[in-house]
Amino acid sequence: MTLAAPVRDELITLGRALAFDKILSGNRDVSCMTCHLPALGTGDGKSLPVGAGGIDLGPDRSHPAGQFTLRHSPALFNLHRLRKFLWDGRVEALEVGSIRTPAGEHIASEMEAVFEFGPLSAFPLFPVTSRVEMLGTDNDLADVPDEEFTELWSRIMDRLGAIEEYRQLFEAAYAGTSFDDMSLAHATNAIGGFLASAFSFSDSPWDRFLRGDDHQLTEAQLRGARDFMTVGCTKCHQTDILDGLPGNEFHNDALVQFGPGTGDGPTGTDDFGRERVTGDPADRRRFKTPPLRNIELTAPYGHVGQFVTLRGFVEHYNNVDSTLLAYDVSQVEPLLQRTLLHNYDEILATRDTMLLPIRLEETVVDDLVEFLKALTDDAARDLSAVTPFSVPSGLPIDRAR
Ligand code: HEC
Ligand code: HEC
Repeated sequence: MTLAAPVRDELITLGRALAFDKILSGNRDVSCMTCHLPALGTGDGKSLPVGAGGIDLGPDRSHPAGQFTLRHSPALFNLHRLRKFLWDGRVEALEVGSIRTPAGEHIASEMEAVFEFGPLSAFPLFPVTSRVEMLGTDNDLADVPDEEFTELWSRIMDRLGAIEEYRQLFEAAYAGTSFDDMSLAHATNAIGGFLASAFSFSDSPWDRFLRGDDHQLTEAQLRGARDFMTVGCTKCHQTDILDGLPGNEFHNDALVQFGPGTGDGPTGTDDFGRERVTGDPADRRRFKTPPLRNIELTAPYGHVGQFVTLRGFVEHYNNVDSTLLAYDVSQVEPLLQRTLLHNYDEILATRDTMLLPIRLEETVVDDLVEFLKALTDDAARDLSAVTPFSVPSGLPIDRAR
């Protein structure tokens, strides 16, 4: 496992505790890792996650009122290399080291000064503000009015400060600073450091092949790698297939939409993706080209988890205008099937034209899937050791079997 930058042990210890501790959620029932389970490739195995108020874990998790979050839970691999966060890129690293986030001026410069890992340090400030993800309703945090981020963040720090072990962990991680002088930025920076250290990988067969070892790929994987370039996958999944660099650009990949949506369209259940950030109608239904590292381990796929198998997602690229119409919604859970939008004409109206020439024979699909499996680092197959046995609040820890 190679890290971008070494993260000090005390910071990792703190970050790990916080990432698994449900104390960060309103009703103390959800931790970050509830939706990013190490045992499920740092996702949750569901098309759309169930956050606050949910029961059970992994694919079986459900909500008594049938609630889902709006988008699929992405994997958390090699986040230190990610420039654009979230499916629509609304948190991102700008040139000259600054960060753009939806909280804008809420993030005081004293908070920004604490961030050691760029947008990754800031990112965990947001899931805690989401009612459907972590905040919930009817609790001592949830009565803070929406948008009053600073008040909410300081109440979470009050909760943490009431636990002596947390005071010690924070002061060990930031030597020389007293807990009472810290803000939630110190917590989210630690979570960022933990995520970068626990989930960074650089030793898949494809990594080793790129480092010059020609014997790492099977014949089928070599054919798949060639196809990946010749059929046009690399037009969007650019030079660095694994981590999505240079830019994780945004495209309309001709995928169906379902779930609660983001308030867009006539029903409010549509999701205009990147347009929501830029305001530009040309960006409608464009989503981030995701990194493909360890993709074999992170089903389902797509921004609402449209495909439950990797093969299904690859087959979608065979003449997208017809595969979109032939989409088989029975692969997702029944509650979501009912929410499928039949707006195929609108999806195709802004579908990326680079997809149009792609035709894939069955054998090419086979080889592409084999190639995608060469992006898996064996060390990522079993991440159970990442989960701690206990957290300072004493609350139970979510660990998928
Ligand atoms: C209820 C489930 C849920 C919880 C709890 C949750 N997340 Fe997520 N996470 C998601 C979803 C869904 C997305 C994608 C949302 C979007 O794109 O709009 C996401 C996105 C992310 C991303 C961006 C990854 C990328 O590729 O863009 C990171 C990093 C992340 N979460 C970390 C965290 C941390 C840290 C916490 C705890 C503070 C947390 N998550 C809590 C579901 C969850
Ligand atoms: C026009 C740009 C474009 C092209 C060409 C393209 N992709 Fe994608 N790919 C994307 C975008 C954008 C997404 C995410 C779309 C979404 O969820 O809305 C994606 C998602 C994926 C995913 C799912 C990732 C995940 O974590 O959910 C896989 C696998 C994938 N692409 C493989 C391929 C393969 C194989 C090819 C070539 C046959 C290809 N892509 C061609 C843009 C593209």
